[in-house]
Amino acid sequence: MKKSRLPLIIGAVISVALIVSIFVVVNYKNSQVNVASDEEQPAAQKGKEDEPTKEQPKTPDKTSEPQEQPDENGYYPNQTIPTEPTYIDGVLLANKRYPLPSTFAPGESPEARQALNTMIAEAKQQGFNLVAFSGYRSYEYQTTLYNNYVKRDGQAAADRYSARPGFSEHQTGLAFDIGEVGKDDLWLTEEFGETPAGQWLFDNAAQFGFILRFPQNKEEITGYMYESWHYRYVGVEIAKKIKEQNLTLEEYLGVK
Ligand code: DAL
Ligand code: ZN
Repeated sequence: MKKSRLPLIIGAVISVALIVSIFVVVNYKNSQVNVASDEEQPAAQKGKEDEPTKEQPKTPDKTSEPQEQPDENGYYPNQTIPTEPTYIDGVLLANKRYPLPSTFAPGESPEARQALNTMIAEAKQQGFNLVAFSGYRSYEYQTTLYNNYVKRDGQAAADRYSARPGFSEHQTGLAFDIGEVGKDDLWLTEEFGETPAGQWLFDNAAQFGFILRFPQNKEEITGYMYESWHYRYVGVEIAKKIKEQNLTLEEYLGVK
């Protein structure tokens, strides 16, 4: 009996020793992990504390940047007028966010005029007698025009259809207001867009490099109400893309 118990006792002692060893080793490793993570936490905390300290001076700056938020008329208060016009991907942009210098006076674009003449000639072939009744406008002329509209309708209303001086696409020499010869009563009206001539223009302008610049239901993006008469020359390739994808120039260029 005595002989047969000894190996059992030795086995039990070894097993207990093994279990105790494993327990000790695992506990030691865990304590090492905890020490390591305890050490990192303050460092991480430190980093996090540093961030708000760095950010703190920025916060008042951000709230005091009113030019980032347009006012109720779509203009940016305290906006600085750039010394150069803005080109995005080679496209000259003029809107309420991107004004032109008052000294920017390129005159009418010969390329845009040539495209316009070709378009008008083609329209005539199709039986539509189109005319551009307004094209390039100087900063000074836009000042007179805008001020007259403000006197007539008030600033809030005028800002929805007339650009303030320095903000008009007409100052780029690339925009034209188009109507039908002899139908002056429809010039500058939404109804022109519903006439066969206005429809033809809308459907075909892109083939000549023009886009309807202020489409319906896009005032939030363009800053202006629908203008069935205002066409902007951007070149055939871009005009076709904008038309096909039903975009505004702002959306195409990825700006507001
Ligand atoms: N009617 C357009 C917005 C302009 O005045 O340029
Ligand atoms: Zn216009």
